[in-house]
This record gives sequence, structure tokens and C-alpha cells, in this order.
Amino acid sequence: MQKLVIEGGKRLEGKIRISGSKNASLPVLMASIMADSDVTLENVPALKDIHTSLKLLTLLGCKSELYNGTAGIQAGDLVPEAPYDLVRTMRASVLCLGPLLARLGRAKVALPGGCAIGTRPVDQHLRGLEQMGARFELESGYIMGKCRRLNGAHIILDLPTVGGTENLLMAASLARGETVLENAAKEPEITDLANFLNACGARISGHGTSVIRIQGVDSLQGCRYRVMSDRIEAGTYMVAAAITHGDILLSNCPDKELDAVTGKLREMGVIISPEPEGFRVVSDGDLQGVDVVTLPYPGFPTDMQAQIMALMCVAAGTGTIKETIFENRFLHALELNRMGARIKLSGQNAVVRGGANLVGAPVMASDLRASASLVLAGLKARGITEVQRIYHLDRGYEAMEKKLEAVGARIRREKEN
Ligand code: EPZ
Repeated sequence: MQKLVIEGGKRLEGKIRISGSKNASLPVLMASIMADSDVTLENVPALKDIHTSLKLLTLLGCKSELYNGTAGIQAGDLVPEAPYDLVRTMRASVLCLGPLLARLGRAKVALPGGCAIGTRPVDQHLRGLEQMGARFELESGYIMGKCRRLNGAHIILDLPTVGGTENLLMAASLARGETVLENAAKEPEITDLANFLNACGARISGHGTSVIRIQGVDSLQGCRYRVMSDRIEAGTYMVAAAITHGDILLSNCPDKELDAVTGKLREMGVIISPEPEGFRVVSDGDLQGVDVVTLPYPGFPTDMQAQIMALMCVAAGTGTIKETIFENRFLHALELNRMGARIKLSGQNAVVRGGANLVGAPVMASDLRASASLVLAGLKARGITEVQRIYHLDRGYEAMEKKLEAVGARIRREKEN
């Protein structure tokens, strides 16, 4: 396994180019198997989860490759099985369920387990697909699904699940008749998926709102599509600029999709100015703690919770975080405290007493965004921080240490002893 070794205290200055969105690329890659002809996707990040998805597409019968940010997916005769040893490494593999049922009328997908941040059930995915006519059995840890052609349905989700909305949106695109998805998630990645499907000939409207209408069509054709940029990667590097009192220009950056994040960072005292190519992020170090509640979009994203917590540790005053999306997403707090942070946890709430003088330490990554939080703290901490098990980080950040080194960070990748 590998670790990142960071010498803290360096002010970051320069330009960082934001990569394509992991959480938009994953569903769009799964949706590609629904097209009768080849798909080309641009702005796709070179991440572990993307390579895992391309491996899954190949197992499902679609040749796929990624070169220099462009993914090519060749339509093929689909094989309806997503094996456990692949699904267990990436929960988002469950997003092939809707496409397989829509295209083939059958699917055998390993039930994704939970992960460090929560149990991650998929009951909403299954219930919605059942309303569209699919029938499921659970057999040796696999979801066995089958249906004749899916029928459109009026589905009211119990909660605005991102993955559930995505699976149902894809399935409905090839169903017979109209599907209405109520209480749908509004995340920008869902809008991106709907835009891709419409570019393939689907008839989707209302995406980005909580009511999405889909008129099923008989087939979808491949297309060339540019995936949106990664709003969570952009938010992470905004915090990197702020925590090091730096001055960073972020290019190829999303804009309004970051409003909740830029709003909170500005409330802390970070100076974020729109530039023609993105955002310039500057901090003189005079930062105040704030109160954050993670919410479905357009609220503050849970995927930025760990990162803003690291910044609150060194801001003046006390900040609070309420995590309302996942039941166990404070694992980074325990490691931050080992670096001298002063965070108290109580259930879904964290109280962060600011003004900590962070000191470098060997710390353990537990999940993707927790790893990012520890790297951010290491950029600030006095001395050396070693973030271990950075395979978590590689799932969602393209060449993080290279991007940080290019703006002045002292950071290198090493083998763990
Ligand atoms: C997506 O996960 C993202 N992953 C997550 O990003 C993100 O944190 C999450 O949405 C919330 O924004 C991808 O897009 C690949 P959910 P997803 O279904 O779809 C409960 C990252 O760091 N729920 O909206 O799994 C669930 O337990 C990752 O990039 C049910 O109860 O999220 C959770 O508490 C982490 N039943 C809440 O809803 C269901 O059927 C939100 O889950 C589905 C979900």
C-alpha cells in the first residue's frame, strides 16, 4: 500500500486545472451500455473508480478504453452480470442495474455492501424498478432481476437518493410510456446524466428539479458528450488554498454548482473571485468558524464535509457540523484530533473548537473524502504528516499530489513500510 508524505506550512500559489467529475462520469459510463452504437465521452478523469467502471463495462460486453481524458465505449452484445469481486470495490457498480433491465430484461448484480461511511442500502432503487415491472430475488449476495419490457410508472422516492434517481432515470429512458420521478435528487451530476441520455435520444425533462418526467423511447444511439467538471475536487482545492493562506486559480471549474460551498467558505472569510477560466481563491489566514449542515443539493454537499472540517480546525472561534446524509461520516475527525485538532463528536453532530496548531503525524485514511481532509490538514500542520492507505484517495482525485506539488506543496507518494 502507499502513503502520502507531506511537509506542512507551505503557502500554495499558482493554477490548478479541475478534472472531470467522478460522480457524473460513473453513471454516464453505465448509461453508455444502453446505446445501440458507440459512445465517446470527454473530460473523463483518470481515477481508480473510472478504471473499475471500464472493467465492468468490458465484463458486461462493451469494449471500452480511456485515453487522455476521452473514453470510448463500443456497443456490444450485453452480458447481464456484475460480479461481486468488482462490485465490492466500487458500490456505484449497482448503477448498471437499471441499464441492464432496460436493455436486456434481466440482470445479476452483486448487492453492494456498505462502506466506512454507512450501510448504503439500495431499497429505493429496487422499489422503483419493481414499480416499473421488474421482479427481484436475492441469491447468494446477488440481486437477480428480470422483467419483460419495463413500463413507465409514477414513482415517489422516500428520499432524494442520488444513485436511486440515476438508476430509475436510466431504466425509464427505455421503458414503455411515461415515468414520473417525484422527490428526485437534484444534484448536478443527475442533470449531466439526463443531458447525456437526451443527447442519445432519450426524452427527459425536469432534471435538476425534484420532479423528473421521462417519455420512454425504443432505442438510444451513441453520441459524443463532455462530462461536467468535478465540483467536489474544486471545493477540495479551494480549501487547500484557504488552509495554506494561499492564492490559487482554479480552471475548468464548475460555477453555480459550487454555490453552497463558495457561500460557506466566503462566510469563513475566504476570498473567492470569479475569473474567466474559473475561480481565484485567496486567504490571508483571517478565518472564522461557521455552522454547516450537510443537505441534498442545492444544500451544502456531504462530500465536502470532511474538507471544511479540516479548515474549521484552524479558523478562529467555534464551528459546528451536522451530517444529515450518512450515518458514519466523521471518521476523519478522530485522525484530525491526533494532529492536535479539537473536535467533539455527538451522534450526527461535530463541534470544532478552532485555533488549533496542527502538528504533523502518521494518520490513516478511512474513506475517500476523509483522506482528502487529512491531506488538507497535513498541508497546514507543522512538520511531517503521513497519510496512509491512500488507495482511498486515488478513487476520487486525479494525481492529487502532482496538482498540489505544482502550486508549492511539499508532498510525495511513498510505499508504506
Ligand atoms: C452518491 O452516492 C455519491 N456517489 C456520493 O459520493 C455522495 O456522497 C452521495 O451521492 C450523496 O450526495 C456517487 O455518485 C458515485 P444516495 P449514493 O443514494 O448515490 C440513503 C463520494 O465521496 N439511501 O443519495 O450512494 C443512503 O443510505 C461519494 O464521491 C437509502 O436509504 O448516495 C444515504 O444515507 C460518497 N436507500 C442517503 O440515502 C437507497 O435506496 C444518500 O444516499 C439509497 C440511498
